[in-house]
Amino acid sequence: MMARLEVKKVSKAYERDGRGFLAVNRASLVVRAGEFASVVGQSGSGKSSLLNLIAGLLLPSSGEIFIDGKNAALMNDREASIFRNSVIGHIPQGWSLLPNLTVLDNVRLPFYLAKRDGSPDERAQSLLADLGIEALAKSYPSALSGGEAKRVAVARALVNKPALLLADEPTENLDRDNAKAIVALLKRAAKEGTSVVMVTHDERAAKAADTKYVMDGGKLVQKI
Ligand SMILES: Nc1ncnc2c1ncn2[C@@H]1O[C@H](COP(=O)(O)OP(=O)(O)OP(=O)(O)O)[C@@H](O)[C@H]1O
Ligand SMILES: [Mg+2]
Repeated sequence: MMARLEVKKVSKAYERDGRGFLAVNRASLVVRAGEFASVVGQSGSGKSSLLNLIAGLLLPSSGEIFIDGKNAALMNDREASIFRNSVIGHIPQGWSLLPNLTVLDNVRLPFYLAKRDGSPDERAQSLLADLGIEALAKSYPSALSGGEAKRVAVARALVNKPALLLADEPTENLDRDNAKAIVALLKRAAKEGTSVVMVTHDERAAKAADTKYVMDGGKLVQKI
């Protein structure tokens, strides 16, 4: 499956100390199937908020988001979950593994949530190998370093070959070689038709993208 992402003048209002502000301010973005887009910007500029809006973890205060022409905000909860599960792979910022599942089970989980036919095992193992952590398959998350845990989250997001991949700081806590391996995997996913949106502080990672955006105070601007 392929999916074009279209974000149309999306805003997210938050309140702090009784004062409202727009963490995301009329952001617009189109990512074609097979396109790799990067978003850089200072801490607090609204990057994660934007990704979480696209992922459906947050609801926009205004504006619309279309994935493959569909607006999940108009679906009921169940429909929206099924839709998002079948389309989106998400690498959240920070720690996101389930502590009671092994590394391999964390990676396989999206496959079973989507109730696919067949087995995810081969793909899960080969992603772990691509990321240099095949030896950790039976370990539990509490026994992993930050960079290893991040690599597991990358494998988990890719296991279903998602049409849309949302990556929030996928190279955080990683050395140059491991960061390179992750960027290479995201590029390969894009080559296979996935639309990729990667948020990063890593200039080297951002350079690998086809299209580059900067977020500043909630405003999203394309870099030329
Ligand atoms: N639930 C919330 N309530 C109020 N303000 C929030 C909430 N979540 C985030 N914010 C604020 O919104 C702004 C944008 O946050 P966001 O997490 O999107 O930034 P970011 O660009 O991802 O930063 P970083 O690079 O540090 O991850 C920040 O000022 C943050 O403090
Ligand atoms: Mg963030």
